Amino acid sequence: MGKTNHQTWCSLCFVVIEPECSGSHSLWALANYIIGETPFPEFTAVVMLDDIHVVYYDSNDKQPVYRGPKPNGKIHDEVVQDGDYVFGIMYHHMKGRSFHLKHHFNLTGGVQVQQRLTGCEMLDNGEPALIMEKDTFNAIYTDQTLYYNMTHFTYDAGKLRPGYDGVRREYLRTLYGNVFLPICIRTLKRILKREKNVVMRKVPPRLRLIKKEVSGGFQVSCLAFGFYPRHINMTLLRDGQPVAEQELTGGEVLPSGDGTYQLRKSLEVSTEELNKRHNYTCTAFHLSLDNKLDVSWESGAERVHLSTLSVLLVMLLILILLGIFICVKGRRRTASQT
Ligand SMILES: *[C@@H]1O[C@H](CO)[C@@H](O)[C@H](O)[C@H]1NC(C)=O
Ligand SMILES: *[C@@H]1O[C@H](CO)[C@@H](O)[C@H](O)[C@H]1NC(C)=O
Ligand SMILES: *[C@@H]1O[C@H](CO)[C@@H](O)[C@H](O)[C@H]1NC(C)=O
Ligand SMILES: *[C@@H]1O[C@H](CO)[C@@H](O)[C@H](O)[C@H]1NC(C)=O
Repeated sequence: MGKTNHQTWCSLCFVVIEPECSGSHSLWALANYIIGETPFPEFTAVVMLDDIHVVYYDSNDKQPVYRGPKPNGKIHDEVVQDGDYVFGIMYHHMKGRSFHLKHHFNLTGGVQVQQRLTGCEMLDNGEPALIMEKDTFNAIYTDQTLYYNMTHFTYDAGKLRPGYDGVRREYLRTLYGNVFLPICIRTLKRILKREKNVVMRKVPPRLRLIKKEVSGGFQVSCLAFGFYPRHINMTLLRDGQPVAEQELTGGEVLPSGDGTYQLRKSLEVSTEELNKRHNYTCTAFHLSLDNKLDVSWESGAERVHLSTLSVLLVMLLILILLGIFICVKGRRRTASQT
């Protein structure tokens, strides 16, 4: 069951931009087919290589739009040819399905949306790892799900269209295993070649330890930002001991909007606790680094600094007063002598 959950979770890779589930690189398409009046094209598809948006396709233009400079040459022609074939099938299949479901649910008028998440993953050695497809109707009904990881094939027709499991299962197994998977993997390799400077780049994180006053105390946050790829291990330590994950808030790796990622983990600390002397350390490890990165901060230290400073001030004041006293006394003595 754990494995199945993992798979289900993996199948949402695209949505949460979590490319590395089992493979080292992945190619995912998210397609929408819309029935009804909307400003959007009837069919749209966005293709992602790992977490990079690489191709956009819609039924108005019927021309794949690539990220960056327009590709050319033989490889490009082959990618386009495969794209036309796959997008064409997807378009017609989703259209047929949407109309069938619309009638099945007696949905007259309004807007109906059929969504499909489909793609493949590849291992480091270039071998295919899996192919997957998941359909959703009107964002509520999970329609069919298909999963093939080279040893196991699972097909769930969903609850929407029962009736023809056995034959359909075999048909889909052959179609996905022998036709779509090879196409997906070779497209993945070609696009990977083109985008390798982007998806294979390594940008180290910058790390900050931030203390902020919040109601009821303080928040100590560990912030890593500007890194790529998204995988990072970051922990907050108190006096050298990792703070338990359940004590921390945040912890979700988020895109920064510039192609890099950020991660924040925060700990609530009472004012009382903060005044105690603790050593807070934020430590991170990332693919781009040879060694772990860390920043430390000692709580309760300001108080010490402040008292040291006041002692110094008092001493200075005493010295000044003493100086004035001696000066005045000396003058009196000279005055009385004359
Ligand atoms: C759709 O309408 C038909 C006939 O009006 C009815 O038999 C069927 O149960 C309805 N289906 C749903 C899902 O409401
Ligand atoms: C494929 O999935 C099955 C069932 O989840 C699992 O037992 C098997 O180990 C997987 N195979 C590979 C190569 O990952
Ligand atoms: C705080 O702890 C870290 C790691 O445990 C250590 O590297 C650092 O020197 C300590 N800092 C202080 C001020 O004690
Ligand atoms: C993070 O830690 C886990 C478990 O210790 C390890 O498997 C993984 O490779 C680490 N990732 C990075 C980027 O260091």
